[in-house]
This record gives sequence, C-alpha cells and structure tokens, in this order.
Amino acid sequence: MKIDVLLGLQWGDEGKGKVVDVLTPEYDMVARFQGGPNAGHTLEFEDKKYVLRSIPSGIFQGEKCNVIGNGVVLDPALFKAEAEALSVSGHDLTKRLYISKKAHLILPTHRLLDAAYEAAKGDAKVGTTGKGIGPAYTDKISRNGLRVGDILSNFEQKYAEAVAKHERILKGLNFNYDLKNLESDWFAGIEYIKQFELIDSEHFINQQLSAGKSVLAEGAQGTMLDIDFGSYPFVTSSNTISAGACTGLGIAPNKIGEIFGIFKAYCTRVGSGPFPTELHDETGETMCQLGREFGSVTGRKRRCGWIDIVALKYAIMVNGVTQLIMMKSDVLDGFETIKACVAYKQNGEVINDFPYEIDDTIEPIYVELPGWKTDMTKMKSEDEFPLEYKNYVDFLEKELNVPIKILSVGPDREQTIIR
Ligand code: GDP
Ligand code: IMO
Ligand code: MG
Repeated sequence: MKIDVLLGLQWGDEGKGKVVDVLTPEYDMVARFQGGPNAGHTLEFEDKKYVLRSIPSGIFQGEKCNVIGNGVVLDPALFKAEAEALSVSGHDLTKRLYISKKAHLILPTHRLLDAAYEAAKGDAKVGTTGKGIGPAYTDKISRNGLRVGDILSNFEQKYAEAVAKHERILKGLNFNYDLKNLESDWFAGIEYIKQFELIDSEHFINQQLSAGKSVLAEGAQGTMLDIDFGSYPFVTSSNTISAGACTGLGIAPNKIGEIFGIFKAYCTRVGSGPFPTELHDETGETMCQLGREFGSVTGRKRRCGWIDIVALKYAIMVNGVTQLIMMKSDVLDGFETIKACVAYKQNGEVINDFPYEIDDTIEPIYVELPGWKTDMTKMKSEDEFPLEYKNYVDFLEKELNVPIKILSVGPDREQTIIR
C-alpha cells in the first residue's frame, strides 16, 4: 500500500483539518509528520467545533489509528490539555493514538526562548505562535534535543542539562521569566504521556503498509511557510512539503501515492512576512469577516487577499501535487468580481515563476472573473454549480494544470463536494 499526503499550499489554515476528517473513513491510519502545537486544525460536525493542535484530525472517525510521527515537536503540557478536552467530550484516545519515541519535546524554556528571540528581533519579528517551535527544532538540528523516548529513563538529569543551556541563553538576552510556573504543568504532561503507546513509528507505519493498510499523512502549516521553500525568514521551522512526510514518518519516497494539495479560493496569512496579494481595503475586511479569519491558535486576525496563482504553481511543483482541494469558496459568494493573480511585476518586468524573494516591490498582475453571486453553502453536487463558479474552477484547473477533486462550501463535514 502507498501513503497519501494532504498538505497546505498557501500560508496555512487552508482547511486541512476539515478535509482530513472527511477523508479518514477511506484510510486505516492518519499520521502527523511535522509541526507542533503551532497548528490549529478545525473540524465541525453535528453542530460541534473542535480545534486540534498536535493530535491528528483522524481522531473523530471511529476506531482509526492515529500517529504523532517523529517529525513532530510535542509540548506535553499542551498535549495533555488537548487530549483531556477530547476525553471530556467522550473521545478516549489512549487506544487509538500512538506517539513516536523519536518526536522531539518542546521544553518550557523553548517557549521562553521563542518569546525572547522574537522580542530581540523587534520590528523584524516573525510573528510566531509563541509555542517554542523554532527553538525546539533548533535543538533537534544542533543535536541538543530531548525526545519522547527520553522520558522513559533518567529523564530528570537530561532535562536539567538542557534547561541549564537554555537559561544561559535567556540570561544573555536579559529576558525575565518564571520557569517554575510553566514546569509544573509540563511535568504533569510528561506523566500523562506515559499512558500512551510510545512507539518506533517508522517500523509501525511501514509494517502497516506492508500489511495492506492505508495511511493518510496530515500536513501542518503550508508550503509558503516551509523552512526551505517558504518566504524565509518568515516561515516555520519544519519542512511542510511532501518530502517532510518521508523524513517525518520514516517513509521512503517510492511509498508516497497521492499528494493532495489544499488551498482557499482566496488567500490568508497570519504573522509577519510578505504577502503580494494582500488587501488592505474593504474587500480584504469582508473576506476576513465572512471567512471568520481569526487564528485558531493565537486568535490573531488573519491577513486576507486574492488567490496567488504564481505561489500556488510553485507549491504544486515542490510538492508534486496530484489532486487539488479548494476550500471556502462560499466566502466569495457575494462578490461581484473575483480576482486571481497570474503573474508578478517588479521594476517593470513581468515575473511568472515564484522568485527567490518576495517583497513590497512586487506588484500582482490580476485577471478578473465574474462572481457567482449564489449561496454555495447548501450545494450537494457539482450539477448545482452556477456557471460563473464552474468558470472559476475551470480557470484554476487550467492555470494550475492539476484537477480540483474536492470543493468545500462551508466549515461542516457535510459541506463538501467530491467530484
Ligand atoms: P487548517 O489549519 O488548515 O486545518 O485550517 P484552520 O482550521 O486553521 O482554518 C480553516 C477555517 O475555515 C476553520 O475555521 C474551518 O472551520 C473553516 N472552514 C473550512 N472549510 C471551510 C469552507 O469551505 N467554508 C467556510 N466558510 N469555512 C471553512
Ligand atoms: P496550521 O497547521 C498559519 C505561522 C506563524 C508565523 C510563522 C512561524 O493551522 O495551518 P511558528 O510558531 O511556527 O514558529 O511561527 O508561521 N504559522 C502558521 N500560520 N497556520 C499555521 O498552522 C501556522 N503555524 C505557524 O503565524 O508567521
Ligand atoms: Mg490552522
């Protein structure tokens, strides 16, 4: 069996959680391969709304197996809070959720370092989620990290050594902090994690594939936040692209099957960094209000703008996307016209390929299409689509050269049209 990957093509929050939940019945297992509690994946069904951060979005569909892979960074305190909230609402996870022993731990001091580095950057700050993601991955790469498997033996000493290093840096940055407060929740989280199956997930997933089980890998963040290919340095600290599923789960590239690339019918970004199609006007504000574009992790207002086909083509290329999924078309239901950025202009020159760096000197070149002015939220099949909506979908498929297989017309599980 092959493993399919679902990932974001823009700056995150495309609707990955919703679609993973919708697709889970077709799979035996769902696995997260990168990121951590910087993610906020929202699912809505039966008039209830859930936001998942570290737990895979397959958790609500029956007895499916869910895995937190080695590429993820895990904060035990936040994990405990998330898992306990799910238990209270009747979803017991201990038998259905497995955690890789090779996943790295986010320490309380990683969160402090995240805040200290952001403060030191001043106006140039990344606008991180403040969850300690960058410092945790920094320690992983510099071979100073602690892994989930470390909690099984002699952990206190390993923890004390790591924290001593962090405290020296925090002191050097003159950063004031109260570690004791954070530590009590964190150690409660460490104890809590021990009741879960801590596994060698690369063996487990490959064995499952060999036994004919199907796996869906769930991305976090989006391609434009990828550490290598995103709008560096305004990115997250992991490989969010399809290659990240290989390293983040221990899967060989030839085991990858479909690659689902998910995008909104427009575009959003939260945090700092360039965003060529951003709208600072009433149209952007309308997108924000109708799309309820407020961050699910930090509550920050998301910046909104038109769809960026230059960036999407680049994302499709680096991921090898085989099927597209378009979300939130309903947000544009009332618009007279819809714009799509098909190229950039910089110093009078037209740019068709996503450049090394995007900055304020880049101007989007738009084509304008008529809006559909129809309520899409109750639609059940593509036969009901208004002509203008069909035209928008056809236009995107032609530009992007990949079929759009799923169209989402509302936040609920049911508001999903599979073509
Ligand atoms: P993720 O991080 O990619 O899982 O996305 P988020 O959950 O952070 O953000 C997507 C938001 O859009 C959530 O509030 C979803 O409930 C909502 N959503 C998903 N699909 C649709 C859709 O088709 N229409 C509308 N209006 N909202 C949607
Ligand atoms: P999901 O999975 C949107 C952004 C932050 C910041 C940058 C770096 O819900 O799509 P970090 O805390 O990762 O060091 O922050 O990345 N960011 C996200 N934006 N959705 C996310 O996740 C994000 N995770 C991180 O806002 O700009
Ligand atoms: Mg999100």
